[in-house]
Amino acid sequence: MAPVKVSKICCIGAGYVGGPTCAVIALKCPHIQVTIVDLNQARVDAWNSPDFKLPIYEPGLEDVVRQARGRNLFFSTNVDKAILEADLIFVSVNTPTKKSGVGAGFAADLNYVELATRRIAAVAESNKIVVEKSTVPCRTAESMRTILEANSKPNCRFDILSNPEFLAEGTAIADLFSPDRVLIGSLQTSEGLDASKSLADVYANWVPTERILTVGLWSSELSKLAANAMLAQRISSVNALSAICEATGANIDEVAHAVGFDSRIGPKFLRASVGFGGSCFQKDILNLVYLSESLHLPEVAAYWRQVVEMNEYQKRRFAKTVVDTLFKTITGKRIAVLGFAFKADTGDTRESASITLIKDFYAEKALVRVYDPQVEHEQIWMDLTEAIPGTPVDSIKKQVTLCPSVLEACEGAEAVVIATEWKEFKEVDWAQVYSKMEKPAFVFDGRMILDADALTKIGFKVTTIGRGSV
Ligand SMILES: NC(=O)c1ccc[n+]([C@@H]2O[C@H](COP(=O)([O-])OP(=O)(O)OC[C@H]3O[C@@H](n4cnc5c(N)ncnc54)[C@H](O)[C@@H]3O)[C@@H](O)[C@H]2O)c1
Repeated sequence: MAPVKVSKICCIGAGYVGGPTCAVIALKCPHIQVTIVDLNQARVDAWNSPDFKLPIYEPGLEDVVRQARGRNLFFSTNVDKAILEADLIFVSVNTPTKKSGVGAGFAADLNYVELATRRIAAVAESNKIVVEKSTVPCRTAESMRTILEANSKPNCRFDILSNPEFLAEGTAIADLFSPDRVLIGSLQTSEGLDASKSLADVYANWVPTERILTVGLWSSELSKLAANAMLAQRISSVNALSAICEATGANIDEVAHAVGFDSRIGPKFLRASVGFGGSCFQKDILNLVYLSESLHLPEVAAYWRQVVEMNEYQKRRFAKTVVDTLFKTITGKRIAVLGFAFKADTGDTRESASITLIKDFYAEKALVRVYDPQVEHEQIWMDLTEAIPGTPVDSIKKQVTLCPSVLEACEGAEAVVIATEWKEFKEVDWAQVYSKMEKPAFVFDGRMILDADALTKIGFKVTTIGRGSV
């Protein structure tokens, strides 16, 4: 059997991965009809909004959707129709950490993947290539195959591929236009290899073939967890060193620069910060920890778990530095927190360090004033009520205020905390901010983005992560 030439793609899940990924496929492959479906009507409506108020903020995304939507890119809640018509189906649903039951707090909740898989089995009337795009534990494809085969109709065969997504939020479109690699995992049978070729041919419309890597299914699944674990490990390593710098008077910027010059190490992902966030790093490492424990490899589990623990320590350490520096109490003091997204150029707040900081400041009874250029206020209230359980939002609102600008957040504040590296925070008129603040005016730069010397000249008392005062 020759590889199928893909002409219709369905993507289940119109989130941060499914939306941008399949919008770019549609843009680059005008001969393929791409339908992205989701159960969430509000999300689909936003993707279809006439004024392109998309549900996700991502530089360059609007332009891609403007070019392809209505041409060969469609967003819909009609999941069944899209499944029926497609030759190839991406499963891009969420796989959060389980909150209860076996493996709670570590294992991935595969309920959404299973429901989507069962729907494909129930609806499909012809052969489909089913592609696992979500990040999943090793051997999930095997479970998907069992479900599909047990529930399929006669003469309806399914080939399962793993095609993990390596895009980074904030640079998703650039990453998708020019990926370091596209990874496709398949069974090493002739049918599996044919399916792999069909998907590789889709990407080959714009990705150089030497960047399209084809491997076995389980290697592909594990490679995604491994890549995220190694990236997060670099951040935790540099953050661990930042604590040593602060205690000794060394400067983490200088240390990272010197270390990164080593061509075996390289300069990327060596930036100390208040801690990593996002929907993936913590979840995927915990997944790896769970996998290691299930495989009776406790030392391996402990090794990776420490990467997450170091991240928690970094956030707690930074919050404590703020309290200690403000004369060991922030009760009743105004603290401006600049940035709520987990990193710049995204509106995503999942696992954002900002949430932990505000939670700690709230517990210390500070008056917190928050500004973020992209995150919706409704999202901030949702995150804070989840982070401070058992406290009604009205009580939180007595201590937390959301502000429309940097200046308004900082007005009357005793301290400013930089929690997200938004470019706009570098360009603020800091002299004007200083004039509006209580004195002494403190700045805590959790992202190493401000010019500490210039701020000190203005009069600020500046604390930068990883920079000791010894
Ligand atoms: N966000 C990232 O940067 C990133 C990067 C690489 C990989 N991933 C992985 O990709 C997957 C998706 O992540 P995301 O950030 O896009 O999640 P998301 O929560 O933004 O989107 C998932 C979407 O799937 C929809 N959905 C769930 N079940 C469905 C069903 N049965 N039918 C139709 N729609 C359904 C949800 O309504 C939601 O809109 C996860 O496994 C994640 O780990 C994420």
